[in-house]
Amino acid sequence: MKAINVLGVDIGATGIKGGVVDTGTGELITDRMKLDTPKPATPENIATVVHELVKKHNWDGPIGCGFPAIVKGGKAMSAANIDKSCIGVNFEELLSNKIGMPVFLINDADAAGIAEMEFGKGKGRDGVVILITIGTGLGSAVFINGHLLPNTELGHFYLNNEIAERLASNSAREREGLSWDVWGGRFQQYLTHLKRLFSPDLVLLGGGVSKRFDKYESVIEVEGLEVLPAKLLNNAGSIGAAFYASKKFVKSADLI
Ligand code: BGC
Repeated sequence: MKAINVLGVDIGATGIKGGVVDTGTGELITDRMKLDTPKPATPENIATVVHELVKKHNWDGPIGCGFPAIVKGGKAMSAANIDKSCIGVNFEELLSNKIGMPVFLINDADAAGIAEMEFGKGKGRDGVVILITIGTGLGSAVFINGHLLPNTELGHFYLNNEIAERLASNSAREREGLSWDVWGGRFQQYLTHLKRLFSPDLVLLGGGVSKRFDKYESVIEVEGLEVLPAKLLNNAGSIGAAFYASKKFVKSADLI
């Protein structure tokens, strides 16, 4: 199957970033651009910023979008860190109509996980691989022998009577002004619980904080658990969304 170029967009709670991705190599072939996520992050406002990003790239072609919510059949089904009015909205339709190009939507952490499994540290890894994105929220992507179990939302289980992402996300670290050691201690508890639940063979850490792995690496050791920073760092979301869209687009256009 011929690999195509796709605009990969990562819609996050704080920034909307994107670049054109060669979906054969998983490389960004344009500079990555970042625009602020609108406040409030309502469907119309989000669509306007994504459209802006598309125009800035002079892009004409398929688009993959990672979205920070449960995504089913193109619809957002939750809204932990975006405006609640997003729930139930079919963003695939909204964005495709506004931009006039085919848009494919996937949960942002699932997108990042797909990128790591195809082009990063998950490549060729069997067994249970979990990617956790650490940003405004905690996102998760769970793979068994390379197959994704979508929309797992492992940032939302309870840890010490609190939703895990309220305690162990990067926004919790910033909001509470935690040192890397203190935050790392919380994240270590999170990983310990994750291990208890899933016995993963590998845990990859993505999101903005994957760049700072050296700051907390020493405090997040969990016996018997392999934990690595993602190779694609915080470009994984855009790359994975583009890769996902390329598969869907080729299928829908019957180009196989
Ligand atoms: C959302 C997830 C998302 C994660 C990272 C969480 O709050 O519920 O769907 O993947 O944040 O953006």
